[in-house]
Amino acid sequence: MATSRLPGFYNLSLTERLDRLAQASGLDPDDLAPFQTPGGLTVELADSMIENVIGTHNLPLGIALNFIVNGREVLVPMAIEEPSVVAGASFMAKLARAGGGFHAETDPPQMIGQIQVLGAPDLEAARAALQREKETLLAEASAVDPVLKRLGGGARDLEVRLLRETPIGEFLVVHLIYDVRDAMGANAVNTACERLAPRIEALTGGRVHLRILSNLADRRLARARVRIPPSALAFESAGVHYAGEDVRDGVIAAWAFAAADPYRAATHNKGIMNGVDAVVIATGNDWRAVEAGAHAYAARSGRYTSLSTWGRDEEGNLVGELEMPLAVGIVGGATRSHPTARAALKLMGVRTARELAEIIVSVGLAQNLAALRALATEGIQRGHMSLHARQVAIAAGARGELIEKVAAQMVAEGTVRPDRAEAILRQLQQADS
Ligand code: MEV
Repeated sequence: MATSRLPGFYNLSLTERLDRLAQASGLDPDDLAPFQTPGGLTVELADSMIENVIGTHNLPLGIALNFIVNGREVLVPMAIEEPSVVAGASFMAKLARAGGGFHAETDPPQMIGQIQVLGAPDLEAARAALQREKETLLAEASAVDPVLKRLGGGARDLEVRLLRETPIGEFLVVHLIYDVRDAMGANAVNTACERLAPRIEALTGGRVHLRILSNLADRRLARARVRIPPSALAFESAGVHYAGEDVRDGVIAAWAFAAADPYRAATHNKGIMNGVDAVVIATGNDWRAVEAGAHAYAARSGRYTSLSTWGRDEEGNLVGELEMPLAVGIVGGATRSHPTARAALKLMGVRTARELAEIIVSVGLAQNLAALRALATEGIQRGHMSLHARQVAIAAGARGELIEKVAAQMVAEGTVRPDRAEAILRQLQQADS
């Protein structure tokens, strides 16, 4: 991809946008066809995915522009019903370009499988027996997925935990650490946990109860960093000038609120998840798993807090970081069976699940900044209203520069309605003819 900067993209018609996307990405228009209607998920395909299917449920799919992640230009598909999210991410990605874009990294794709062992007569002896047989257990767990093993994945470690204070008294939990490579990994890990159960029962003298993946994927963290010079943060709105340094300090003060207060942290992290989930959904990944992991990780200290941090470096730049578990895959499940998810992965040109996670965590950070910048300055409603007004203007038939004119007049009047958009559009067209 030469560039993810596509100026004027939002003013194009739907077909023009797809043409522009094909041109910018170098993909064949056929590769992007699933994004069009009809296209994407058919009812027949949906019928083979879940039970009792009667149809499909669609969401808008937008493209976040301007992203550079680890030096690579990337166009990011986002599936979301909420206005302002795609625009917010794109705009922050544009500001981030001044500091080289986003720098992201991920841990190896290791998931944790949990095996609950009840009724072991001697917990310490059980622990010792499991540790002694660790290598055999790992080999058996790796054997459940020969394909994954061939690709370099498989069981990595086994940890034994004693849960002393539970509502039913103490018991033992085995953690199976499993490298799932480019998969989300639930299937491989759950199968491996089930496979190990009889041997674990024999070694511990207990009874294996639950055998299931943990969504607190804290072995599979993704981190993104961004640095933005204050000059890129300055802006004018409604006749007010916001100096870059003030915006920077306002963002930091907004973050401090989330860092100290769970009520604010929940909303702050929700803003991050606006970006994260939209890409997770667009790529056919399990967003409930990612949500569960994110919030559990945010509470890891015992007090729920912000997933991101914001501060300033010695040169006065705004610097932000986001770290969170990201269990996403590019093989298996809907990532391959859902036509739009497949097209989305192709558009991003990701070759590994880690690369996908690096993009997603960068979008989360961009989204967080979009919200904090707006909240710390003019508030979020203004941007919301003007975006909403643009959509209403387009729906009323405005095209090209008329979109902005109709939208601006509606916002100035404080009336954003289809009938008003049509009336303003008629007036402007008459004045022009
Ligand atoms: C709205 O979807 C998200 C925000 O509430 C996030 C935030 O408050 O940081 C704007």
